[in-house]
Amino acid sequence: MPILLGADPQTAAQVLTVLPQGSQVVDSAERLFGWLNAHPDEYAVLIGPSVGVPDAVALAERMRTTMPTTTVVLLRHEVDTTVLTQAMHAGVREVVAAQDLAQVGGAIQRAHALAVALRGNQASGRNHEGGRVVTIFSPKGGVGKTTMSVNLGIALMRGGENKVCVVDLDLAFGDIAITLQLFPTHSIEHAIGGESYMDEQFISQLMTPHESGLMILAAPSAPDARERVSGVLVARLLQTLREQFDYIVLDTAPAFDEQTLTALDETDECIVVATLDVPTLKNVKVALETLDVLGVAEGHRHLLLNRADEQVGISADKVEGILGMDVAVQVATSLDIAKATNAGRPLMLSAPSHPSSKAVRSLADRLMGIATDSAATPPSPRTHSSSAPAQASSDKREDSPKRFRISRR
Ligand SMILES: Nc1ncnc2c1ncn2[C@@H]1O[C@H](COP(=O)(O)OP(=O)(O)OP(=O)(O)O)[C@@H](O)[C@H]1O
Ligand SMILES: [Mg+2]
Repeated sequence: MPILLGADPQTAAQVLTVLPQGSQVVDSAERLFGWLNAHPDEYAVLIGPSVGVPDAVALAERMRTTMPTTTVVLLRHEVDTTVLTQAMHAGVREVVAAQDLAQVGGAIQRAHALAVALRGNQASGRNHEGGRVVTIFSPKGGVGKTTMSVNLGIALMRGGENKVCVVDLDLAFGDIAITLQLFPTHSIEHAIGGESYMDEQFISQLMTPHESGLMILAAPSAPDARERVSGVLVARLLQTLREQFDYIVLDTAPAFDEQTLTALDETDECIVVATLDVPTLKNVKVALETLDVLGVAEGHRHLLLNRADEQVGISADKVEGILGMDVAVQVATSLDIAKATNAGRPLMLSAPSHPSSKAVRSLADRLMGIATDSAATPPSPRTHSSSAPAQASSDKREDSPKRFRISRR
């Protein structure tokens, strides 16, 4: 049952009214960790307003590494953006005003639902040797995430050898369906509320097949549905899809929103898309630092340089220097890519031998642990952990305890 640390008697009494029976109140960090040692399945820890922000951050960081599935909720008398940012970086999942009891109760309910979702598969004895989640991410819009998602998805199919789906997690403005000229009758929106009974059959009904064999889980048709797609739903969805597909490609919104952060937590391979312009590179640098802080896909990040034309004054070498990461693959600006988007037929299908198709295929090969062909960016002599080549899927799950490491929100 949830445990509360650091609240004056009056606040504690009020908060307890919205916590489940059996919830505990403790007055020191030692007692908190004593309790947690005896209750390793604890699903929520509330840090009360009497604990100063530096101590709360230190506690949350300790919790994050020792008890990653436990939700940390920070209660403050006043919530401001500075506290929110610090808390997020430390792995706090929710920051709530202590006097807003409805919000406190809601946070605890979400913590419980998340714990059930995350531990469900563990409890059922599954060993998580399912499909791999490949997330296409960039903090900037319009850099080619969607284009790369569909082309990479097709490349990962290897002509039907692998089962692959693309999930459109750009929940407000997703355009995977239109990029493939599909008109889905169902979308991720129809999974809302289905967290507790989600299974392969349920998800199959929501997917739209593309002629290539790629399966698509489309974004909602109306932007406001995004708010109702919870982190828990995304986590359950991905766990279920892992059982069904060899690769789950996630197209994302250019933001660290709740759904994207949950997806990043579940990510095995993260493709970071950048273009050769200073604002994008600045934002990608900040995003990479955030991924570091969150511990996302460490050693399994791959930098995709799109529109990688040398004429703009920034070379790939320079990018590597700025970002401190090797470029895994470069895709040049090509009218054929833009035309393919407008025609609704990905270049990987209409022109598989096109240099851009080859470049994306080399990235797919890298993710599959297949030796890259000559179209790939030659490996730089200096290696960097964040762009280490992918290993074969069989040995990756073991080094990936992060299946249960939801680190913030
Ligand atoms: N290498 C390229 N050469 C030419 N056009 C490209 C290239 N990459 C992407 N495009 C075009 O740029 C446009 C934006 O690409 P895309 O939709 O994939 O970006 P995005 O990052 O998903 O954008 P958003 O953040 O808005 O979802 C598309 O019309 C696409 O065809
Ligand atoms: Mg997009």
